[in-house]
Amino acid sequence: MRVSVIGAGYVGLVNSVGWCSHGHHVTCIDSNRSLIHNLKNGKTTLYEPGLEQALQQELQTGRLDFQESYGSVAESDVIFIAVSTPSSADGSIDLSCITSCSQSLAAELAKSESFKVIAVRSTVIPGTTEGLILPLLSESGKKPGKDFGLAMIPEFLREGIALEDFSRPDRIVAGISSVDLKTRKLLEELHSVFRCPLVFTSFKTAELVKYASNSFLATRISFANEMSRICEKLDVDVDEVMAAVGMDKRIGPHFLKAGPGFGGSCLPKDVKALVAEFRSHNISALLLDSVLRVNEGQKLRIVEMLKSVIGPLQGKKIAVLGLSFKPETDDIRESSSVAIIRKLLAEGAAVKAYDPRAMEKARSILPAVELCNSPEQSLSGVDAALLVSAWPEFQKPAGFYSSLLKQSPLFDAQRMLDPEEARKAGLAYYSIGRGFPWKNP
Ligand code: NAD
Ligand code: UGA
Repeated sequence: MRVSVIGAGYVGLVNSVGWCSHGHHVTCIDSNRSLIHNLKNGKTTLYEPGLEQALQQELQTGRLDFQESYGSVAESDVIFIAVSTPSSADGSIDLSCITSCSQSLAAELAKSESFKVIAVRSTVIPGTTEGLILPLLSESGKKPGKDFGLAMIPEFLREGIALEDFSRPDRIVAGISSVDLKTRKLLEELHSVFRCPLVFTSFKTAELVKYASNSFLATRISFANEMSRICEKLDVDVDEVMAAVGMDKRIGPHFLKAGPGFGGSCLPKDVKALVAEFRSHNISALLLDSVLRVNEGQKLRIVEMLKSVIGPLQGKKIAVLGLSFKPETDDIRESSSVAIIRKLLAEGAAVKAYDPRAMEKARSILPAVELCNSPEQSLSGVDAALLVSAWPEFQKPAGFYSSLLKQSPLFDAQRMLDPEEARKAGLAYYSIGRGFPWKNP
């Protein structure tokens, strides 16, 4: 098939490379000129494991192209919309990219003679596909169901493991009009390469499935984080508790890891957007409001611990390891690390930070931070260190930290070290979700 993908960010680029690897001819379109230039030359401007190599491989097939213009749309069988839907100030989503993209698509649809399906992959609040995108596309003069089909196919990939998530989805949910059998048939054919259920629903159901999924994942994380607080008081290890809890088949082991709160471009944004949607219908989202409140508190839990051990932060030098919202990505959107650093700076500390991949993105938003070339450089000469994102590079023996930190303490928001080994290495070590304060030698 001929496929166009609008948006060359994390979702659009992975989808473009992914569909190309299944033998389709793909044109990926983005309004960002320099991004398109780089991608044409096989260079990604975001870090996703394996993506740059996969991009270069698919470019060599001659079936993958990048364009600024929407010209390929008229000849496409399927067009995926994967543009940004960021948060507005009140938590609801900003639909300006969706609007401009739909208008550009309508202009191309007007010129097209062949049937094509337009599939929304961006995360949009229930009602957007039918209430905003469909009317904008219909301005082309073409008839939905006859000249073009519309679908809402939420994306469930995770950053850091996006290529694998694309090729091995747990399920595909496709919201379509129940009378649009042409679209259903085309989507069945396109997705037949995946060995997972293909669930057809209404547009609104598909839109809500996406928000419900991310909100449930966020709820599990906030639950584990809330448990970590009582574990600290009871001198119990939260990982031991959640591991045993997760062995119950009705609960399952995933997304129960306590840490510095959930970040990233989607969990916080999507929960906030769903809460805003509740509000717009005059219903309260008591649980989801709490999920967000627990998360805000958890982000700064490690700073509370730090202050309770070393006192006021004014004039202190603090190392922060990890800037991305999780390992194996350079994405710093809503990263807990950024919130933590802002708090440290606001309280008068000087910050030295290191991240294996996210330094470039952090530079512009954290100009006051000294960005270091290695963990060693960041850890030397500081009053304390915070370990915030769980990059494998930070999984070092306790002796590594004690030799660099000397008597200064390490506060571990990811629980990457063994407290007993830390004690033996003479490291003043504190982590979330274990008895606090830890009795140091
Ligand atoms: P992103 O910001 O990385 O990329 C979006 C791209 O769209 C940008 O490169 C931007 O230049 C381009 N764009 C914006 N308006 C455009 C227009 N009118 N025409 C052409 N290009 C345009 O975003 P992302 O992280 O890939 O997310 C995209 C959507 O997918 C969002 O709705 C997000 O919630 C959802 N989503 C993201 C993930 C993820 O892991 N990042 C996972 C699932 C769903
Ligand atoms: C998340 C969802 O997992 C994807 O299914 C979804 O497609 C995506 O959002 C999206 O809609 O954009 P992602 O943001 O890439 O994916 O990252 P996750 O792996 O879900 O992690 C989110 C945050 O939760 C990270 O800060 C991570 O460190 C944290 N987390 C995760 C925990 O604190 N504990 C856990 O047990 C799991």
